[in-house]
Amino acid sequence: MQKKRSVSAEDLLSNPEVKKITGNINQEIIERRGYIPPVCKAFTKPLTALKENNNFNFKIHSEAAKHLPKIIDNKAQDIEGIDYPDESRKREYSTKRIIGVVFSGGPAPGGHNVIAGIYDAAKKANPESIIYGFLMGPDGIIESEAVELTDNIINAYRNLGGFSMIKTGRTKIDTQEKMALSKETCSKLDLDALVIVGGDDSNTNAAFLAQDMFDDGIQVIGVPKTIDGDVQVRDADGNVLCAISFGFHSAARAFAGSISNLCTDCSSDVKYWHICKVMGRVASHLALEVALQTHANLTLIGEDLADYIDESRLEKARKENRIDYIAYGMTLRHLSRVICDCIVQRAAAGKNYGVIVLPEGVLEFINEIQTFIIKLNTIIAEYNEIHDTDFHTEFPFLENKLEYLRRLARLCEEENKMSCWNRRDDDLFSDIPDFFKEGLLMERDSHGNFPFSQVETDKVLMEIVQDYLNILKEKGVYKIGIDRDYFVKTLKKDGVDPDSFGPVIFRNYDDGSALLLVKEKITSTKILKSSMTKGGVITEKEDIPASVKKIYNKSVPDFKTQSHFYGYDGRGTDPTRFDCNYTYNLGLTVFSLIAGGVTGYMAAIMNLDQNFADWKPIGIPIAPLMHLEERKGRLALVMEKSVVDINSAAFKVVKALRDKWLAAEPGADQYRNPGPIRFTGKSEEDRPITLVLNAIP
Ligand code: FBP
Repeated sequence: MQKKRSVSAEDLLSNPEVKKITGNINQEIIERRGYIPPVCKAFTKPLTALKENNNFNFKIHSEAAKHLPKIIDNKAQDIEGIDYPDESRKREYSTKRIIGVVFSGGPAPGGHNVIAGIYDAAKKANPESIIYGFLMGPDGIIESEAVELTDNIINAYRNLGGFSMIKTGRTKIDTQEKMALSKETCSKLDLDALVIVGGDDSNTNAAFLAQDMFDDGIQVIGVPKTIDGDVQVRDADGNVLCAISFGFHSAARAFAGSISNLCTDCSSDVKYWHICKVMGRVASHLALEVALQTHANLTLIGEDLADYIDESRLEKARKENRIDYIAYGMTLRHLSRVICDCIVQRAAAGKNYGVIVLPEGVLEFINEIQTFIIKLNTIIAEYNEIHDTDFHTEFPFLENKLEYLRRLARLCEEENKMSCWNRRDDDLFSDIPDFFKEGLLMERDSHGNFPFSQVETDKVLMEIVQDYLNILKEKGVYKIGIDRDYFVKTLKKDGVDPDSFGPVIFRNYDDGSALLLVKEKITSTKILKSSMTKGGVITEKEDIPASVKKIYNKSVPDFKTQSHFYGYDGRGTDPTRFDCNYTYNLGLTVFSLIAGGVTGYMAAIMNLDQNFADWKPIGIPIAPLMHLEERKGRLALVMEKSVVDINSAAFKVVKALRDKWLAAEPGADQYRNPGPIRFTGKSEEDRPITLVLNAIP
């Protein structure tokens, strides 16, 4: 045989085939970059114009009217395509414009297409127009770090995920100084308009910037971004103006693809419970969509837990003529019982495996945790205000922070006065595991949001679940159901009569059940033996037959879990076709709003639940969407976040199918495999299932 020639690394690297397959660009990227999203009807016309739409009513908060007077009276704007524009309109539309764009907050698939849409529309209207991208999020505006976007830059990122083109950041422009620096940057670049692509907090920031830059003639337009899906807009009459933020569909599909693979794996090797925490820091929209896409065995929806009422506690309190506030909403302990119940039910059906999906923010909906979060926010805010310093810098380590809390509790007791933190709070807090205490005391982001992605929510919950399952195991409640045919076959092979042993071992042998459950009192082989002796199937001197021992061992559950966090991976996925089309049209909408001369608006597309032909671009006034919310221990004017509506069709469907998906009965599981994100081909996955369900009349 001829000896194979050894090839040097240099030769390998210069080989064209090697170069091709190890390059950064693959066929998928080439195809994505080449995709041209379809455009809404209005954008197929030579130009667009705005038309005030007075059909939408907003309930305006007095604080919003007070702080945002210049943009509070904005009305919704329809964007209409004009076939035969007059000369003055043409001139106005095709004026050279200088536009700055910034990404704000976490990445969301589709962001690059928003910029591509703005760029294409602006260049089409006037090739002299300039688009700047601010680098590293709002810091780029404050520090005047911007790059002029060119065809080459834009084309390299079309239809691709992430915000890598100009990066992002979470800084809030919330002080006089930051505002002044931002204005300086805008005037230095001679900006006509500033576009903020962000979530509720960033759009809040956009409204304040629009108010502040109004007299300078700089327009500010927001774009609804966040994988969390909590930027949704309805007017006071319930009309939907923005059904979902961009990025939600792609992230949900990415999470669902991976979680569905876990469903396949666990139902194959039948030994693990997979605990899947999915992003969604306040709202559980992502978890709800993942439930609909995968039919995981159990999905917790925070908003549903908060709505829980403990009727037995309530009844007891009623009898004692008192109010029991703990009866409203679920406690951590109760939630762990609910989870255990599902695990025990599936085990009885012979399925000691499964998939649990929980939103990362689930604990915020739990009675005692929510109270801690609010109390700690208040304590930290008060400390910062009184001492004009930063709590986290003053108390860098957990022990320092805890000592401060202990001091507060002592003071409250010694001075006998009302306090946000008393001895009871301190005692309850000390019962929490250290890693979770640390999580609860973590620094909030610049918008005052709690950093749920850094808290091991799943660990907190599953530790309690594990403890309770151990108790249930000791009580003989948590057992794995045994297939009757298997039992009969195994014993017969061993020469043992199943009909003599069956009634002694199992609680349901005589009722013909297909799955047999070992009697609760039999919790060890010792008790098994004594039961069999008492039942007269063996003598005291005889050993338990090997086949019976084998069956018994199979009925004893071992609760083994694998934890997964689905967050950053889904945020960085390439956008689905839905998000590609949605975001490109959002970009075009932004330009129409700028060309229409308005400010303080958020670009949106209506009818996302319908066929593309019915999509309708619109400008939503941001100021009327503001309300007061607790942030960093203080009430702040912010754009309202949208959480899962437990009366929505999507939630009702998930609730109605819960038992089916738990599949706590013999037979196959009900898993659904949505498959990976596909870019081509017709597919039922072409828009979020939540959206379709919620649009059903
Ligand atoms: P945005 O609201 O900025 O879009 O970000 C949401 C989110 O993806 C949450 O789901 C998650 O809790 C958070 O970002 C994580 O933030 P960070 O990037 O700071 O770790």
